[in-house]
Amino acid sequence: MKKIKKVVFPVAGLGTRFLPATKASPKEMLPIVDKPLIQYAAEEAVSSGIKELIFIIGRTKNVIMDHFDSAPELENELLAKNKKTLLKLVQKIVPKNIDCFFVRQNKPAGLGHAIHCAKNIVNNEPFAVILADDLIKSQTPCLKQLIDIYNEKETAVLALEKINKKESGKYGIIEYNSKNNNLYDVKSIVEKPSPKNAKSNLAVVGRYVFPPEIFSQIEKSKTGVGKEIQITDAIASLMNNQAVYGYIFDGKRFDCGSKFGYLQATIEYALEHKELSKEFRNYLKNLKI
Ligand code: UTP
Repeated sequence: MKKIKKVVFPVAGLGTRFLPATKASPKEMLPIVDKPLIQYAAEEAVSSGIKELIFIIGRTKNVIMDHFDSAPELENELLAKNKKTLLKLVQKIVPKNIDCFFVRQNKPAGLGHAIHCAKNIVNNEPFAVILADDLIKSQTPCLKQLIDIYNEKETAVLALEKINKKESGKYGIIEYNSKNNNLYDVKSIVEKPSPKNAKSNLAVVGRYVFPPEIFSQIEKSKTGVGKEIQITDAIASLMNNQAVYGYIFDGKRFDCGSKFGYLQATIEYALEHKELSKEFRNYLKNLKI
């Protein structure tokens, strides 16, 4: 069995919910306290055993390439000023044994289309996908939880979250045949159904493990909801040939693609930040609201 060594980060979306901040810079570079969303995602991947990071970037995303590249001028300056801690912080963004690849998605044609851009680099192996705007805080990295299931089942695994059915129009929603604790044998999946049509309150969130067959299913997909090539439709056709599992992961997700989720993450991460925790907690306690 092939191990999961590659992750795809689709970061070529327009991020319209964050305009004007995302006019010229990607939403995935928005920081939660002092670290950009995409770096949290890369750290989750690396601590899940991933060795190759594949970024699907768009028109405004060269800054993501720069973030994962070395920065000789900055590093020399920090060295000259003997700022060793900061130097280490900058140098460890990409650990030594990790390779980064960047592919340009030539138009924001949907998540399925973005993932397909990685086909030649993934090269007929199973692989993972992380959507960096879903920030997940957990003891065991969320992606590692999915990879552990993949290693047992050898088939696609999707991260699931129980949502309020009223919100079904924002997610891919599954229907299932059977369940074993938090693991669901998926029967069907539909992109953004209305609450009336949603078959469950189980939503797919931004972590996936796919077999390479997903690429041929994306190639067959027509444009779906929002006139985009949806990954949900490719997953639905993959299910005609093989089992797909969904897993309610252990952890807390912040939808940092929305302003409210972004603010929640900022507050919770600031409350745990070693330089800020005490001062920020006091500030919140005294805030008159
Ligand atoms: P979203 O729909 O959440 O992101 O896509 P968006 O389109 O950038 O944001 P809004 O809705 O306009 O505010 C989910 C993920 O898929 C990526 C996005 O970057 C995000 O991480 N994506 C989406 C692509 O890489 N390419 C696309 O064509 C579409």
